[in-house]
Formats: sequence, C-alpha cells, structure tokens
Amino acid sequence: MVLNFGAVLSVNAGEAKPMTVQGETITTGFDKRPIDGAVQVEASGLVTDDHVDDADDLDRALLFYQRSYYDSWNNELGRELPHGTFGENLTIEGPEDDKVMLGDELCIGEVRLRVTQPRIPCRKMAVRLGHEGFPSRYLRSRRVGFFCSVMEPGLVRSGDKIELVHRVEDGISMADLARVLHLEPPNVESLNRVLACFALPPALRTKAEKLLRRAQGDDGAWSGDRALLVTARRREAVEVVSLDLADPEGTRLPDFEAGQFLTLSLDVPGADKPLVRTYTLVGRSEDGHGYRIAVKREPAPADSPDVPAGIASGHLHAAVGVGSQLLARAPRGRFAVKPGHRPVVLISAGIGITPMLAMLEHLAAQKRKSGRPVHFVHGARSSHELAFGAHVRRLVASSELLHSHLLFSRPAPEDVLGRHFDEAGRVTPAVLERILPSLEADYYVCGPAEFMADIVTGLIHRGVPLNQVHYEFFGAARSLLGEEKTEDGPVATGADGRPIVVTFARSGIAVPWRKNTFSLLALAEQAGLRPEASCRTGLCGACVSRIDDGEVEYAIDPMYGVQPGQVTVCCARPSTSVMIDL
Ligand SMILES: Cc1cc2nc3c(=O)[nH]c(=O)nc-3n(C[C@H](O)[C@H](O)[C@H](O)COP(=O)(O)OP(=O)(O)OC[C@H]3O[C@@H](n4cnc5c(N)ncnc54)[C@H](O)[C@@H]3O)c2cc1C
Ligand code: FES
Repeated sequence: MVLNFGAVLSVNAGEAKPMTVQGETITTGFDKRPIDGAVQVEASGLVTDDHVDDADDLDRALLFYQRSYYDSWNNELGRELPHGTFGENLTIEGPEDDKVMLGDELCIGEVRLRVTQPRIPCRKMAVRLGHEGFPSRYLRSRRVGFFCSVMEPGLVRSGDKIELVHRVEDGISMADLARVLHLEPPNVESLNRVLACFALPPALRTKAEKLLRRAQGDDGAWSGDRALLVTARRREAVEVVSLDLADPEGTRLPDFEAGQFLTLSLDVPGADKPLVRTYTLVGRSEDGHGYRIAVKREPAPADSPDVPAGIASGHLHAAVGVGSQLLARAPRGRFAVKPGHRPVVLISAGIGITPMLAMLEHLAAQKRKSGRPVHFVHGARSSHELAFGAHVRRLVASSELLHSHLLFSRPAPEDVLGRHFDEAGRVTPAVLERILPSLEADYYVCGPAEFMADIVTGLIHRGVPLNQVHYEFFGAARSLLGEEKTEDGPVATGADGRPIVVTFARSGIAVPWRKNTFSLLALAEQAGLRPEASCRTGLCGACVSRIDDGEVEYAIDPMYGVQPGQVTVCCARPSTSVMIDL
C-alpha cells in the first residue's frame, strides 16, 4: 500500500541556546528556523538539529506540524508565524491529527518513519510564543502535531513528497490519543483501547496504565465524595483543633504525598449549598489507618472586624466531633517535596505548619536513604498558638540531619527561651541567612500572604534560584515577585483587536480583562465578588462555574475535570470576551 500523505514544506533545525523558563535557565533547541538543502535524518532526528531536549528519546526523533494549523493560529493570533515556531522539525502539507494514526509508517525518499505519539506542549512553547497560557491553549485547540521515530535514515529537503506506506488497522489517531491521555478525565473504555495498541511507545503505555488504575479506583484514590468518620478530636493550640478521620468500615485509607490536602464538602446550617474547603493532611491518625487534619478557626480580618468570621472553620470547631461524618474527596495537591540532594528548608508561620509537619515526617522517615539535612523553621505568637510543637521536637530529636528553629513573636510569660522557643521575633529572610549554614537549599514556604511575600522575595533577592523556592497559599493566591500589577495593567485585546471584557452575569458586573491578572477568580475578587474557591490551583472543583459565552485558556491545567460549558475560574483566563455565571 502506498498512498499520498502530503509534502514537506520546510525542514527546521535549532541551535542549543539558553532559555529562561519559569525562572530557570535551560539549554534548548526549541527555537527552530527553516534551513535550505537536503538534511540527513538519523535515528535521533535531523543531524543539523541540536538534540538537547529529547536527546535520549528515539520515539520523539522528528516532530511534524501541519501547515493548516499554522493558518488557524495566524488567524487567531493575528500575526504571521514563521515555520519552526512550534519547535517542529518538519512543517508539512498533510492530514490533520484525526487522520494520522499511531503506528502509521511514512516514507520521505529513503527515510522511513513511524508515527509514535501526539505532541504535548511544554513551558518552552510559552516562552517562544510570549504567552504564559499558550501551552494549555495549544493542547485544548487539538492542533497538536505528532512525533515519529526513524526506521531508515536518509535525506529530507523541503518539497519532498511524503507517502503513507503502512497503516495499522483499527489504530488510534493522534487526536484521540491526545484527548484520552491529556484532555479528558481518565476513562476505562478509552484507556483500554489505547493500551490495546501494539505500537504504543513504553512511556505512553506507562502513563495510560497509571490513568487506568486511577479510572478504576485502583491507585487508592477515590472519585467524588466519600464519607469519613471523625474518630478523634484534639486541641492542638488555642485556635487549632485536629481531627482524625477514618473509613467507617475500618478500611485503611490510601497513601498520600506529604503536603497534599483533603477537600471537604461541608453542610453548614444556613448555607444554601455545601461549602467546599481544603485542609492539609498533617499525617496519619494514631492507628496509622486514617488521616489527620488540623483546622484553625479563622477570625474576621483585623482590618474588618465587622465581617463574619470564617464559616467552615467555625463550623468544624463548633459542631464537628467524634462520631461526626464528613464528606471528603481523595487527597490531591502538587505542593510536595521534590526529590533531590540539596538540603531542605521548611519555613512556616501559623497554621502554615500543617504541610511542613507532613513533609518533616516524610523526610524524617527517609533520612538515611536521602541523607538530606532538613531545617524546620517556624514562627508562632507564643506557645499558646503553637500547634504540634512537641511532635516537631520529637521528630527532630530522632536524627542529626534534622534541625528546628522556633520563633515566638509575643512569648507568653511562662515561655522559656531555649526550652519552649529558640528566638524571640518573627521569621524573616535575615533570620534564615543567620541560622542556616548555607542558602543553597530547596525551600518550602507556607503561611500568611504577607509572610510568604517577605520570605520568598527575600530568598530570591539573596540569590536563591526561583525553581528552588516552593510555596502554597491557604487563601487568595497572589504574585510574590511583584510582577502582577492587576488593577492598573493594560487592558488585554482579543484577536479582533477589541478589549476583552468579562461579564459576571449573576452580579450584573462587566469589567475589562487586564494583562497580568492571574485568573478570572482574581478578577472577580477585585470586582468585589466572593466566589466559592478553596485550593485555587484547579484541584478541588470548588470554583467551577458556568461559562455562558466566550473562550478561556488555562494558566495552570486544572486536574479537576469539568463538563463542557463549565470553567475552573481559579486558573482560567479569558481568550475572548466571556460571560461567567457569577
Ligand atoms: C491548599 C490549602 C490547604 C489548606 N490547609 C489548611 C489547613 O491545614 N488548616 C487550616 O486551618 N486551613 C487550611 N486551609 C484554609 C482552609 O481551606 C479555609 O480557607 C479556612 O479554614 C477558612 O475557611 P472558612 O470557611 O472558615 O472562612 P471563610 O468563610 O471562607 O472566610 C475567610 C476569611 O474571609 C473573611 N470574610 C468573610 N466575609 C467577608 C467579607 N464579606 N469581606 C471580607 N472578608 C470576609 C472571614 O472573616 C475570614 O477571615 C487550606 C487552604 C488551602 C487552599
Ligand atoms: S478553587 Fe479549587 S479548583 Fe478552583
């Protein structure tokens, strides 16, 4: 069988160059330009291309991108993109992704290739296109292109014909593969279809198997809400209680990563719908089978004492005790200790101690294997407000690799320096510089927003690379590096050159979308609305709203799958004028 597949319009290659991606400088050959004449193709790809990105992955030797997709992007973006913009090796005239099948074999002259996988964009594309949300938009556009491995080497040049020489019967298209593995919530039937494909490369097979386990509930996680029984309740500090949660049948609850949280749906009297709130897992319950969370009663803000105090935390303090049942979604979250060799510094204040405690436990359990020194630095007002102080001391005493430094900003009369705390004052970058043997470390930060801004900017100004500083907000997320000037930023325009306007339909408010605003949720809050939200990172589903008109793209890809016509406003940005049901 030999069928016409298309033609090579340009052969593009890139030199390895430094590129700054999310604060980290990497070397990449992403920036590709068309080159003249015939170019040799070997198993690793074009010989003229600097293979720094996928050097070892022969299944991704050559990236193809279709001309018809360039036409669509040029139209949408209102500019003429040169071939090579998307980092592809070959810009081709040829079928779209729904007509390109996994395992298809193509010939370009003597070069024989096999189609291996759809292209999934990375952060480098955001830098190349000058738009942070572009990779997500690219994926959702379903104009992704595809990779080939090289079966027979040879020469390619622009103008060459491409022939389809072999097609696998009942195969799966690149469009379907991208949809099943990257766009839709895991689905057993679709994943089984993917796994049945003989030509599936090992990396994709591993991914599909993992998704299948999740879809079948075999990864330990559960989908939707699950009733958990409160088996113990303890006062950990003056405004903090911990709750032990167990499966009512006594089944051991699945493992979680230190730093992840549970999402609770709370029926609070007087609220017209369940309140969704997230609480970090501080560890396992006493018997090792359940979970423990710790909840701080949230007071009204100091500058607005007349507004009501926190509803969900107030309810958990006042009305939830041993024997109560709570509805919880499975542990989720990306704030977890990354593997590595650098020392780890865990920095927290107030209730921000919860993920740090889980991480300290995890690192303490790993200490011999990892050999990483760990510094736990925490600030509280006094021993009355300090939760889990004794637990931290016990853990730290278990290994020479673990260290702690506790600061009290207003020690109580009975607090003894050297016994109950190590220093009077607050945690600041200057304190860190003084107490840490070196600033070369991986940092994890959690606490009130002002505290986080101070610590994170302080570390960056002292030369700690951004990619070594990780943080999590318990409330409204904000930029910590001062680049998010929202209220006075320039108004963004759509492809038609007109200002992008966001209409919050239920509230009857229409506001311009300004560049650098983080998300539709942030815009709604600036407009004085208080939409439901909790994790603010696309994980819990609390902020999912109806979108009645327009299109969005995602700054962070939400892990919480939404139905058509819905949007996860905490991490979405409008790409056209939109109407949201808020
Ligand atoms: C990833 C993550 C992990 C978390 N982990 C923990 C944890 O381990 N422990 C923990 O205690 N919390 C944690 N939180 C925070 C928790 O999810 C809740 O946000 C917190 O308990 C407050 O919820 P609430 O319903 O009590 O307060 P809300 O009712 O949501 O109120 C929040 C604040 O807004 C104020 N407020 C109310 N009305 C107004 C108004 N009209 N105008 C202005 N302000 C107003 C309230 O007084 C209060 O100060 C976490 C959050 C996230 C995102
Ligand atoms: S607030 Fe959790 S998904 Fe948006």
